Amino acid sequence: MADQGDWSCDANDAVQLSVIQPGEQKPATLDIFHPQFTYPIFGDDEQIFGYKGLIIRLRFAAHDLRTHVHISYDEKFKAVGDAAATDLNKTLRDWVPEFAFAHLPEYENAVQKDENAKDFTPPGKLVHSYQSKERNYEIWAGSLADSAVRNLLARAQIFVPFFIEAGTPLVLDDPEWTLERWTVYFVYEKITPPTPTASQFSFVGYSTTYRWWFYPEQKGEKGVIQNGTFPYPEEIRFSTLPSRLRIAQFLILPPHQGSGHGSQLYNTIHKATIADDTVIELTVEDPNEAFDVLRDSADYHTLYPELIKQKININPNPYPAEAGKRRPRHVPTATLIPTQKLTEIRSQYKIAPTQFAHILEMFLLNQIP
Ligand code: ACO
Repeated sequence: MADQGDWSCDANDAVQLSVIQPGEQKPATLDIFHPQFTYPIFGDDEQIFGYKGLIIRLRFAAHDLRTHVHISYDEKFKAVGDAAATDLNKTLRDWVPEFAFAHLPEYENAVQKDENAKDFTPPGKLVHSYQSKERNYEIWAGSLADSAVRNLLARAQIFVPFFIEAGTPLVLDDPEWTLERWTVYFVYEKITPPTPTASQFSFVGYSTTYRWWFYPEQKGEKGVIQNGTFPYPEEIRFSTLPSRLRIAQFLILPPHQGSGHGSQLYNTIHKATIADDTVIELTVEDPNEAFDVLRDSADYHTLYPELIKQKININPNPYPAEAGKRRPRHVPTATLIPTQKLTEIRSQYKIAPTQFAHILEMFLLNQIP
């Protein structure tokens, strides 16, 4: 039997992703990039068996993420007994839509000649514009109940197994009242000046957020569950009642990482949280280390001016020595830091308690001369 090792390759290397711009003569690539993970698709070892010189090329149209899969290889393992090359089409069909398997010229033709591309605007509405490295970017936000938002998000879901460890793609066919809880934010580069045929928009990243009811158990805060029961019909549970906003998926494509887009996107979501009277605080579902760094950095920059303005600091001498009196062994927190004022700042900026305590710690440590 053939040595199976010779026929195995690293799935993360074999998969190549690129974003192509309609209207250009050749599908211009914003550099080819590779997935960070492929274990949800190809198994824990992230290996593909049965090919030499394998390339699995996934192309995405820059504006609407229309997808194409193209598989090429130099040699394929001839099945011997139970050993057979991985069925790539079958494996990938669980993750990318059927139309992605069209013939390449057909796809290129459809993308290159997409008459509607030049009129494309991202779904939802424009909520923020900014510049990075002298290029223009926009963030658009829309409800998952909007089919245009859903269609675009469905095409982006393949990025979840590729880039978000332990992330799960969203279920997009839930009832409308459930979909309404979700707001999706899309980051696009806005290419200027516009060309006559190409789309002006090129996908950079996205985030999904959803409302989750606010538990009242927390001391002194207003919630929706009274006496342990939910007092409203289920359908209105999430839409207008006091809620937490939770960030679920958050992703900036690798060619655009490290250019401040993640921070812009997070700050946009944070500002929307502050502006919405029905949202009590912003939370994050299973953040990874990189997201924690981004969130700490963004929250620190947001809170710093307020903490300085409010003259937050540690009381250096909570119990001035008095003749004949011993200092107490335990000092209540409120004598060291102004807890009431801090609670007000936290509520105003709608930052979750643990995250706020963490930022406060960073701030106080930074104040030590
Ligand atoms: N590791 C550590 N720190 C990082 C990383 C990283 N991989 N990427 C960015 N940072 C830091 C930056 O140094 C910066 O800190 P600074 O302001 O103090 O300099 C801060 O995070 C923000 O940098 P941005 O350029 O705004 O971040 P970027 O646009 O690259 O977005 C993100 C960061 C979202 C983590 C991006 O790299 C990404 O999408 N990665 C792959 C997917 C992922 O991990 N998503 C988060 C999963 S958790 C979730 O979905 C809830």
